[in-house]
Amino acid sequence: MKAVRVGLLGFGVVGGGTVAVLTRNAHEIARRAGRGIEIVKILTRDPGKRRAQAVPEGLITTDAAMILDDPTIEVVVETMGGIEPARSYILAAIAKGKHVVTANKALIATAGNEIFAAARARGVVVAFEAAVAGGIPIIKAIREGLAGNRIRGVAGIINGTCNYILTEMREHGTEFATALAQAQELGYAEADPHFDVDGIDAAHKLTILAAIAFGIPLAFAQVHIEGIRDLESADIAYAAELGYRVKHIGIARRVSDGIELRVHPVLIPHKRLIANVDGVMNAILVSGDAVGSTLFYGPGAGAEPTGSAVVADIIDVVRTLTTDPELRVPHLAFQPDALSDGPI
Ligand code: NDP
Ligand code: HSE
Repeated sequence: MKAVRVGLLGFGVVGGGTVAVLTRNAHEIARRAGRGIEIVKILTRDPGKRRAQAVPEGLITTDAAMILDDPTIEVVVETMGGIEPARSYILAAIAKGKHVVTANKALIATAGNEIFAAARARGVVVAFEAAVAGGIPIIKAIREGLAGNRIRGVAGIINGTCNYILTEMREHGTEFATALAQAQELGYAEADPHFDVDGIDAAHKLTILAAIAFGIPLAFAQVHIEGIRDLESADIAYAAELGYRVKHIGIARRVSDGIELRVHPVLIPHKRLIANVDGVMNAILVSGDAVGSTLFYGPGAGAEPTGSAVVADIIDVVRTLTTDPELRVPHLAFQPDALSDGPI
């Protein structure tokens, strides 16, 4: 069967991680998806950048129409970020009957209702696992693994940049501005890091988590938002003396008159599991009436962890393109030749 042709909008940290994962694991990915997956065009602004120079000639374009108007491209992956032109490009892709995978939480949180309505009307899929908590498959966990539960609450560390900065300030006494510059250098921060340090990125993610967990519309405007900009090393050191760690947390929970949504710094006793989640790692506690409490932990940002989530979505979308039922749902891909000859 011919490989699925994919167009990539944006070739930065996440776009680069996505291409790296797709290339390195092409064989396994094709087996799991049931078809090969081929990136045939990549949109970027500056084709002279090192990352763009490293891929085969002819792959890079600065013209979005080369992807959006190409009828042979079945899946569009958006890793540009920002609202416009990402929103218009995604709506154009949907209008042409293309499936969409995006890592763009700002867009999903603020324009998701419009995008999902368009996708439903056109009968295509919009997948967005990478938009929340980087490499942790938290969207799939809530939507699929915990689908039988009435969710009570979702709470946790959902911005890797804030957690990295707070960890650096506590462990090494690093100044806020220096720690932020390091997070940017490592590819964790948003293009405008004000989204990270002022809590907006966490609020975007909480908006998405709450919509999935509670079945409510995307309600970014309802989130109470505080960031970490005003915290000083002295605050963090004083909290440590008292036996606490400062963490930036997002909380979505049922209250008597609806769903409460808030992101802000919290003092957590240092013995609690979540107090020991450091650096770029994220951790999300999901409580359901049947399962009780579950905790999901992993890298919350960065090229390949996020690429891992983007690629998982592409595989899911490709499975929806096939008529083989075994490939439409995740299954255990048993490989007899992978067993060692010796005792297990
Ligand atoms: P980068 O800034 O590293 O990359 C963005 C890419 O998009 C660049 O290649 C840029 O081109 C291109 N681009 C931006 N605007 C345009 C445009 N108008 N036309 C053509 N190309 C454009 O961002 P990230 O990879 O870090 O983030 C991308 C998305 O993924 C964002 O939505 C972000 O929130 C999300 N995300 C990021 C994570 C991370 O760890 N960084 C984790 C999870 C999600 P050029 O380089 O030429 O300017
Ligand atoms: N800027 C985001 C963060 C990227 O630091 O968590 C991952 O969504």
